[in-house]
Amino acid sequence: MKIELKNNKIFFENQGQKKEIHPFWLRERVNGESFIDVGTQQRLFDPTKLEEDIKINSLNLSDQFLEITFNDGTYTKFAVQNILREFINEDEIKKIKKVEWDSSFTNFKNFKFEDNFFNEKVMYDALIDFYKFGFVIFKDVPTKNNFITNFANSIGSIKRTNFGEFFNVMSKPNPNDLAYTSLALAPHTDNPYRNPVPCIQMLHCIENEVNGGLSTLVDGYTVTEKLKKDFRDYYNILTDVKVRFQFIDQSVILEDWAEMIQLNEKKEFKQVRFSPRLDFVPLMEKNKLELFYSARKKISELYNSDQYKVEFKLSPGDLLMMDNYRLLHGRTSYDTNQGNRFLQGCYIDYDSTEGKLKHLKRKFNL
Ligand SMILES: [Fe+2]
Repeated sequence: MKIELKNNKIFFENQGQKKEIHPFWLRERVNGESFIDVGTQQRLFDPTKLEEDIKINSLNLSDQFLEITFNDGTYTKFAVQNILREFINEDEIKKIKKVEWDSSFTNFKNFKFEDNFFNEKVMYDALIDFYKFGFVIFKDVPTKNNFITNFANSIGSIKRTNFGEFFNVMSKPNPNDLAYTSLALAPHTDNPYRNPVPCIQMLHCIENEVNGGLSTLVDGYTVTEKLKKDFRDYYNILTDVKVRFQFIDQSVILEDWAEMIQLNEKKEFKQVRFSPRLDFVPLMEKNKLELFYSARKKISELYNSDQYKVEFKLSPGDLLMMDNYRLLHGRTSYDTNQGNRFLQGCYIDYDSTEGKLKHLKRKFNL
């Protein structure tokens, strides 16, 4: 990929293809203190108010810089590297390759909490792990005074829901969700009925005195790839039919319609939703419903099979951060007579982790 000049025009060449760069595209990227605020890097001018007939009067290209004077008198000097980077136009987070894992994945790395580690290189490494595997565990996170809110707000911003800014997961009388009992919870994703669905869940173990109550995780991405390879009809219908997910309690009705496996515009994995207590399949013709029910049964078998599930015990101070669009989570049942099991949970969105990761990458020049 390179930049060339010809007859006062600028071309970029990429894989044998040569295209002219629109002068306006360059004009709206002019830099320098009179055009860009140094602190915020935001424009001090409105490009929609510029004359449309922007042309290049003169230019000069060296290895590192491109200097241009435009017909409205503006002069600017671009770093060639920055222009080339814009042509790649790629989100560096999406470049992080997901690693598929199953029940054999037991030696995952943990990250020890330290004061102020949110702005250290170790947090960058932890977030890279989060994007590779869909989860990361932090150890020794302080358990007093609802520290989970400090933790979440030090990475980004808590997403408040009708369960509050954070929620306490322990068995309690008259629960509005099975999470607040001591029953086993099969692998599920959280809040599929919300619009938008919370991206990331944090679960912080405060007390765990019981033998059961193991945390379970399943990689929805691995299972989706398996389904796509071996059960194509099932994959097709689960990526096609929009199911209604619903949550009802005394003060709110939450509903959203979405595929159980949602793909992005490139037809690649985007998100799984799975919560068999809350899903309502639309009324379709009988043959289609039959296929849908077989597909749902199969994916449920895969999610619940020992082949894909990892199980581990969270100890006080452990904080599990997991991708609610990719992973399913659950727990084994426990006996409340053995002692307390108390977790605190909250949600954050992707802009928190993405923003922090990009900031740390810039800070440490990685
Ligand atoms: Fe949950």
